[in-house]
Amino acid sequence: MNLRILFARVLIKLGHFVQELAVTVMRSNDLIEFSRVSYSKAKEVKAWGAKQWLESGLTPEEADLEKEFPIKNGKLFLLGVGGGREAIFFAKKGIDVTAVDFIPDMVEEARKNIELYGVHARVLVQEISSLTLPDACYDFVWISMGLYSAVPTKKKRVKMLKNLWKSLKPEALMFCQFHWDPQKGLSSKAEFAKKLFAILTLGNFWYERGDMLWGNSEFLHAFTSEDKLRSEFETGGFKVISIHFNEKTRRAGAILQKPE
Ligand SMILES: C[S@@+](CC[C@H](N)C(=O)[O-])C[C@H]1O[C@@H](n2cnc3c(N)ncnc32)[C@H](O)[C@@H]1O
Repeated sequence: MNLRILFARVLIKLGHFVQELAVTVMRSNDLIEFSRVSYSKAKEVKAWGAKQWLESGLTPEEADLEKEFPIKNGKLFLLGVGGGREAIFFAKKGIDVTAVDFIPDMVEEARKNIELYGVHARVLVQEISSLTLPDACYDFVWISMGLYSAVPTKKKRVKMLKNLWKSLKPEALMFCQFHWDPQKGLSSKAEFAKKLFAILTLGNFWYERGDMLWGNSEFLHAFTSEDKLRSEFETGGFKVISIHFNEKTRRAGAILQKPE
């Protein structure tokens, strides 16, 4: 290969790697704030509240997950309401929906849309890794669009699971979508360099393989091992009923249950 082309390719690879380092210099609360700033943009609020999206119902993957245990009645707690797409879908089925989002404008957008579609649901401003919830209240939890992966560090995700666990009735179900990419971070040298950079910059000491800034705009943790994923859910107190992997979309979903 022409040496100049080779040099150019090395620079491009280096550029990608330097971008990947960005996730290692922020600590968990910075990562949440980083995502918050991205989602608070007016164009995001508009996109998640767009008429066509609101009326599209559940995505095929969400519908597949829900088909296993159809949500017919009861109280549902929904994380990351956006413009209200799923809140409207479930409320139309007669489900008692409470939903949260960390962007006040998104909450306002969802409230407006819920009213517009003539249904009822409560929508509150809350950040999902530090939820304030009533005890033993809900029959279902709904976490879609890979949102489970938006919580940085295993410690914070387990804390969130324990919080949700407390708010559920016995035998309640949790539908949970997350990012799945077993190929992510396979290079041990690159992973070592990222961990070292995190330490040198006094940044994300808890950096895990699979951590990234999706589209350079939000934090996501891609799960790379089924065993680690199951153990995380079980540490949070949940029984894993089923896991649906989709290698193509790199999104996967699990149905979890609070044991009796
Ligand atoms: C990908 S959008 C999906 C919105 C909606 N579930 C839908 O599918 O139409 C993710 C939503 O979750 C919210 N979100 C992301 N991270 C969050 C966090 N840590 N706490 C609360 N909400 C969060 C965003 O503001 C955004 O509205």
